[in-house]
Formats: sequence, C-alpha cells, structure tokens
Amino acid sequence: MDASELGRWPYCDLAHLGHIELLTPKPEESLRFFTEVMGLSVSGQEGDSVYLRGWDDYEFHTLKLTAAPKPGLGHLAFRVRSLEALRRRVRVLEALGLGEGWTEDLGHGPAYRFRTPDEHRMEVYWETRWYEPTEATRPALKNQASRFPARGANLRRLDHVNLLASDVKAMRLFLEEALGMKVTEQIVFTGGDEQGVWVTCNNKTYDLAVTKDHLGAKGRLHHLTYAVDSREEVLRAADICLEYGVPIETGPHKHAIQQTFFLYVYEPGGNRFEIACPGARLLLAPDWRSIVWNEEERKRGQAWGLQTIPTFHTYGTPPVEEA
Ligand SMILES: [Fe+2]
Ligand SMILES: [Fe+2]
Repeated sequence: MDASELGRWPYCDLAHLGHIELLTPKPEESLRFFTEVMGLSVSGQEGDSVYLRGWDDYEFHTLKLTAAPKPGLGHLAFRVRSLEALRRRVRVLEALGLGEGWTEDLGHGPAYRFRTPDEHRMEVYWETRWYEPTEATRPALKNQASRFPARGANLRRLDHVNLLASDVKAMRLFLEEALGMKVTEQIVFTGGDEQGVWVTCNNKTYDLAVTKDHLGAKGRLHHLTYAVDSREEVLRAADICLEYGVPIETGPHKHAIQQTFFLYVYEPGGNRFEIACPGARLLLAPDWRSIVWNEEERKRGQAWGLQTIPTFHTYGTPPVEEA
C-alpha cells in the first residue's frame, strides 16, 4: 500500500483542532493580553510556557504561550477520534516521510509530531487531559467546562487557525490525503492558481484555513481565533481593545468566505489574533461540494464591501522582509 492509498480515508480520523502553541518575544505582555483583555484562564505553567484555555474549552489547554525570540507558530495539534485513528494517521505520515516522532506535554498524552509540506509543525494525539474545575472555577451548570469568567472579552473556545503557505495546493492535497480533512471553501484564481483553502474534520465549517503567503515564505502563521457567542460580543471586544490600547488591524465586519463576523487585532508579541462569532453555521451535508471563489469575487472585498487590507496578504509571523 503506498502513502496516497493509505491516506484515502473518509474525514473521520481527526476529531477537532486541539491547541496551538504560540511563540512570543514578549511573554509577560502577551499573557496579560490573553488573560486580562481576552478573558482566557491559566491552567498550568512549565518552563517557558503558560497553558491557557477559554471558559468552555474542555481540555486542559487550547493555547500554549511560549517565550521565544520571534513570534509565530510553535505547533498546531489535532485530537483524533480513537487510538486506532491515531495509528492510521501515523502510518500515513511516516510513509510520506514527514514524521518527526513522539512527544508528550503537560496537557496531553503521546502526540505524534510531523511537518506539513510547507514546514508548519503539527501533531496528532488521542490521550488528553480534561480540565478539572477548582472550587473557584466550578460552573453553576455541570455541562459547561468552567465558570464564565466575566473578564475582558470572555472568549469562549478556540475556533480555528489560519496558516500562510508558499504553496496552497500542496497544503490542500496534504490536508485532504494525509490528514483526511474536508475542503469546504476555496479561493482559486484564473488558471487554477490556488490562493486559499478552508478545511474541516467535523461539523464546523472550518477548523483550519491556509492562505497564500505573498512573500513566498514557508511555515508562517496568519492568525489564531477564539469564538464568542454573539456578534455583539465582538463589538464589545473592539471597545475593550480600544480601552486597553490593543492595535486593531481590521473590522469588526463580516467575512464573505465562511461568513464569520470578525475582529482582527495584534497581541503584544506581534501575532495576529481574531475574535470571532461563527454564528450557527454547520456543515451537515456528507456530500458537501466545495464553494470556490474567483478573483473577481474576491475583489469585492468582505461581505459588506470592506476591502481586504494589504497587510492581510503580507503580514504573518515570524515577520519577513518584503522584497
Ligand atoms: Fe501539543
Ligand atoms: Fe479567521
């Protein structure tokens, strides 16, 4: 059996986006931003890393904030649906020669590390550590992961991550064939030039987006996103960012692609961060056909006409010099 054959498995091995390790050259300021301004909570600390989560994230952490000389992606992790699913994915990744071996962390059991064709570091894992509320964080309703913090933007849960890639098509093929993810929307310009792809592994319409790095760099991060329940909370988050002097890049506005209501800001370490309301959109069709946006449609900007700002195509972390 060759790698491509092994990879053709229906989109059911990965369960969901688990966590992202974010690198920051300003660890104290970044931590203050994520806790005081965004309302995430600290669940652990080890070495140069602090482990954080939203109030309804069921796992120990969804964000691992690590001190580093430059901002960017440490690693991105997906939880799989079973031990068997993990073994299947590892076989494929090994066959493709992209595997890096096993690792463990404070927040999860054995995770298999690998690199994407564009050199983003990722991992897949099954065994995890569920968050256990303390007396102070126990929720009133037991079907909620922890108490609503009533602090800052009160981010509820990790929603998605957007990576930049020098070759979007190669990333799409990898995500489909090696990880078994499903393409829900795409940007494809004339002549088949793939500029962006949105993929899911569950009933959310996307867990991951990959867009073209116009500077041709590899392995960069575009942004990470946490969700709130309503559009009003995104507007409130904008007011909170204004009060705290957090630089707003664009929005609030509504995306055309995926229709997410968004606000983009920069956290103190230089990484782009999105506060979003994905609404009630779900992917239920098992035979969903990818929605393809062309160049002309993209030129119309976002849903209500806000033009996509130029930095969106060039700024990523770590930053690189424009030629
Ligand atoms: Fe991890
Ligand atoms: Fe996003």
